[in-house]
Amino acid sequence: MKRFAIKDYGLAKEVFIEIEAEPRPVDETHVRVELLAFAINPYDVALRQGAMRDFRTLKFPYVLGNDGAGIVTEVGSEVTHVKVGDEVIVHAVGGTYGEEVVVPSKKIVKKPLTMSWEVAAGGVTPWLTTYNLVTHLLGDKIGETVMVQGASGAVGSLLVQFLKEQGKVVLASASKRNEGLVRQLGADEFVAYDEADAGAAFADQADTVIDATKGGRAGEAGMEIMKTGGNFVALNNLPSEQKKNGNYLSFGPSKTYSDFEALTAFTELADKIQVNVADVLPFALTSVISAHEKLEGHPSAGKIIIKKAD
Ligand SMILES: NC(=O)c1ccc[n+]([C@@H]2O[C@H](COP(=O)([O-])OP(=O)(O)OC[C@H]3O[C@@H](n4cnc5c(N)ncnc54)[C@H](OP(=O)(O)O)[C@@H]3O)[C@@H](O)[C@H]2O)c1
Repeated sequence: MKRFAIKDYGLAKEVFIEIEAEPRPVDETHVRVELLAFAINPYDVALRQGAMRDFRTLKFPYVLGNDGAGIVTEVGSEVTHVKVGDEVIVHAVGGTYGEEVVVPSKKIVKKPLTMSWEVAAGGVTPWLTTYNLVTHLLGDKIGETVMVQGASGAVGSLLVQFLKEQGKVVLASASKRNEGLVRQLGADEFVAYDEADAGAAFADQADTVIDATKGGRAGEAGMEIMKTGGNFVALNNLPSEQKKNGNYLSFGPSKTYSDFEALTAFTELADKIQVNVADVLPFALTSVISAHEKLEGHPSAGKIIIKKAD
């Protein structure tokens, strides 16, 4: 079984290798999935660079990847909600960069037949983040007006759409080149951060501000936009100096969130929520390296997906 692993921390072209791995056994509660598509996330890039090594030590060779979609090939004896042959969406702790993954059954749901493989794989982490942040971290505290910074990104674009589904007023910022995309997703107001100061334009207007920019670059503007006493949510680090009274929250994955619940919601909203896919690359080591190198820069909006030929 072919997998794409890193042999060390470092540059993509120096550390990615193709390995032939032994299939893992499937116990009572697990499921084996033949992967047809997997997504590359900014988190994978940080892991490969060694930026997370103080919190998460990897054992090499390590197979990155949390998000995938494919076909069930084996189920444990206690698994009832999927069967061999089902098309599924997978959220794994790691290991989706390859032909196969074995995951606990509660981390997969059936993929709607109308959902493409690339959308199924590309939506996983961005959707889990969106859903859990809005539904569980904030819940009723979110208020009526929400600012999404990084609204053109994988997480930001789903946030805009999910918040509009919930009837919120959505203020948004991203680069000028992505204004059309963000408006089409439903944002009520838009400011291009590379043309104007979103902090001044939307000062004191949002009950909740979510900084979904890459690396959390919009904290200063976000604090200006938050109403005093509102919520400021960071997907990366919180601003070092909190300049306004408010509820400062750091979002991260939590064992209290149910992947099954969130991914089921994703499948239920499939017809209403758009996952932007920028690139679909063939199932090859060169594709994985090229995807990582692109994500290190400032690529056009949309997920990069590695997909097996139909
Ligand atoms: N804590 C968690 O559980 C969690 C979960 C998922 C993601 N994340 C993190 O959240 C961030 C967003 O993830 P993603 O997958 O949505 O990334 P993404 O698709 O690459 O989106 C990045 C966003 O950042 C914006 N951006 C890039 N450079 C910027 C700059 N200099 N100033 C302002 N905005 C800028 C982009 O806007 P333009 O392209 O329009 O400039 C885009 O909207 C990443 O840092 C990721 O690691 C955290």
